[in-house]
Amino acid sequence: MARAKKAKRSTRESGSGRGKDAIALLKADHRQVEEWFEQFEKARDEDRKQRLATQICNALTVHATIEEEIFYPAFLEATDDTDMHHEAEVEHNGAKKLIAEIEASSPDDDYYDAKVKVLSEMIKHHVKEEEQPGGMFAEARKSDMDLDALGEQLAMRKSELEDAGDDGDEPPIPRGQKSRAQPGRMAKSR
Ligand SMILES: [Fe+2]
Ligand SMILES: [Fe+2]
Repeated sequence: MARAKKAKRSTRESGSGRGKDAIALLKADHRQVEEWFEQFEKARDEDRKQRLATQICNALTVHATIEEEIFYPAFLEATDDTDMHHEAEVEHNGAKKLIAEIEASSPDDDYYDAKVKVLSEMIKHHVKEEEQPGGMFAEARKSDMDLDALGEQLAMRKSELEDAGDDGDEPPIPRGQKSRAQPGRMAKSR
């Protein structure tokens, strides 16, 4: 294993919240959702299953949105790798359909666990495509993408979408129209 290289990278990716580069932020999202999928598999209580599934679906929706709005277009522009870009988008679309089914369903449904299981498998496959050697993130690292600047944009958009989700009834603000965000909050994020 290329130890020296790995150590260098982990310094770059260290730190929490703001200040992570784009890839570190997206990978942290992947790890979080993987943990929740594991907890779902062990859960026996229906309320807990429902809560975990909701957390998973919300987190994946926010994650897919920030990738599609910010990271994927920047990747496509920097690398011209349309095959990799389009495949990733198609995989997102497949996952979103299943997420919608899970959100419309509940643990009473005989197929609930199966749906969550299949979603976890789809996500595992997709995350591998993003993280594996030669995959999207590796290509992004080799390109001239400004991963630090993108990391800040991703973090900002992520917190906007999470806040919109917390409000309950307000849908996420379309990108490019950030009027609902509080000015103080936007300014604070370096
Ligand atoms: Fe991802
Ligand atoms: Fe993705």
